[in-house]
Amino acid sequence: MAKKLFIRTYGCQMNVYDSARMADVLAPLGYAPAEAPDGADMVIINTCHIREKASEKTFHELGRLRQLKEQKAAEGGRMVLAVAGCVAQAEGAEIMSRAPYVDMVFGPQAYHRLPEMVARATREAGSGVLDTDFPVESKFDHLPEEQALQGHSAFLTVQEGCDKFCTFCVVPYTRGAEFSRPAGQILEEARRLVRAGALEITLLGQNVNAYHGEGPDGRDWGLGRLIRALAEIDGLERIRYTTSHPRDMDDDLIAAHGEVPQLMPYLHLPVQSGSDRILEAMNRKHKAEAYLRIVEKLRAARPDLALSSDFIVGFPGERDADFEATMQLVREVGYAQAFSFKYSARPGTPAALLELQIDEAAKTERLAALQALLAEQQLAFNRSMAGRTLPVLVEKTGKLPGQLIGKSPYLQSVVIEGTPRLIGSIVPVAISAGYQNSLAGTVETASPAALAS
Ligand code: SAH
Ligand code: SF4
Ligand code: F3S
Repeated sequence: MAKKLFIRTYGCQMNVYDSARMADVLAPLGYAPAEAPDGADMVIINTCHIREKASEKTFHELGRLRQLKEQKAAEGGRMVLAVAGCVAQAEGAEIMSRAPYVDMVFGPQAYHRLPEMVARATREAGSGVLDTDFPVESKFDHLPEEQALQGHSAFLTVQEGCDKFCTFCVVPYTRGAEFSRPAGQILEEARRLVRAGALEITLLGQNVNAYHGEGPDGRDWGLGRLIRALAEIDGLERIRYTTSHPRDMDDDLIAAHGEVPQLMPYLHLPVQSGSDRILEAMNRKHKAEAYLRIVEKLRAARPDLALSSDFIVGFPGERDADFEATMQLVREVGYAQAFSFKYSARPGTPAALLELQIDEAAKTERLAALQALLAEQQLAFNRSMAGRTLPVLVEKTGKLPGQLIGKSPYLQSVVIEGTPRLIGSIVPVAISAGYQNSLAGTVETASPAALAS
């Protein structure tokens, strides 16, 4: 009988990708995915260190899982309890000592060694396995082929790690130095995903546009070159990538936005702040003006490009004028969507040691003002879709009978009236209305072939 594996995933899309890869590695050992941790033979929490109070929350969750583990033991079974991801990488030793009932703790670069770890953890019960080294070999050379594709949209990690060291961020410490997979390996994985039914692939990396992998021609390929090669795969209709850094937005990649029809007109390009003083204190290595020029170039290449960003308000030393500069930048760019956060000190990062931390009330006020402006822009953008016909990738059924949910080229959720037969195809949808977080529409023709783009 298959052993039950439960993985809970926090954090970014790279963790989502990693959780799927862990399930792939464990499948040959007889582990099959389960819906809940109760009674599972293995539970992995795939953690994110960017979350507020990330380690507290991890220990809290481990406390609850410990009870399930004891319950399983009382019934004569055994639950292997594991912590993976960025908290594991950053605080592995502390987890082992504070929660000795945890069997395995391992970082994002060690997933290919899971079978070995499982063998050790089950052989030597009670002596935890810790693996947070940054190995010399690449896990990508050792992971098995992906097993199953959920839906028609897939993630594909092309780059990992970060050398940028923004002063607020833990990622360079948890994911390690920047690393790009060879292009040939990525193209192979993409072809397999398309054969398995993927119509859309999102290329992932903490700094995805810093990609510089070895091409099949032996040359160094940038992300633009890689995207052009992916666009030649028959059946791959949509390409996206995330997350980008403004510094790595080179001319070839910008040109690709105008030249590759499969590259979707939506880009998440975090700026964090509109104030040069704050950008410098954040070590973002670019000024607000440079960001605006990149946006201008991108829109020259692809006039309908929809933009998204991340913002941090209340970074240490942020004055009213700095915050106003952020608001001004938002007004100038006009975002289709965005994420915004209050600055919160992460242990071990340089910004955590800065004086002039901003008080909570000021952060709350600034965040509310910024979010109101961003919400207004998002609503206006969504409303501007009404009356247009958009190609929509139909993904699943909706809550109500006769409803389908799909995705527009601009990454909007579209609620459509239509038959479930359309799931897994791209159909033209006449948009009747735009709301805060979604669009509504009806299918124009049932024939996907009638759709030009
Ligand atoms: N590589 C991406 C960001 C990865 S982290 C980039 O360079 O933009 C995702 C987002 O979390 C960041 O863009 C930032 O807005 C937010 N974030 C990271 N650390 C934070 C902190 N200490 N406080 C508040 N927000 C933070
Ligand atoms: Fe973090 Fe900055 Fe690297 Fe993004 S670029 S992952 S924010 S250090
Ligand atoms: Fe979080 Fe690690 Fe991703 S810290 S955002 S899971 S890279």
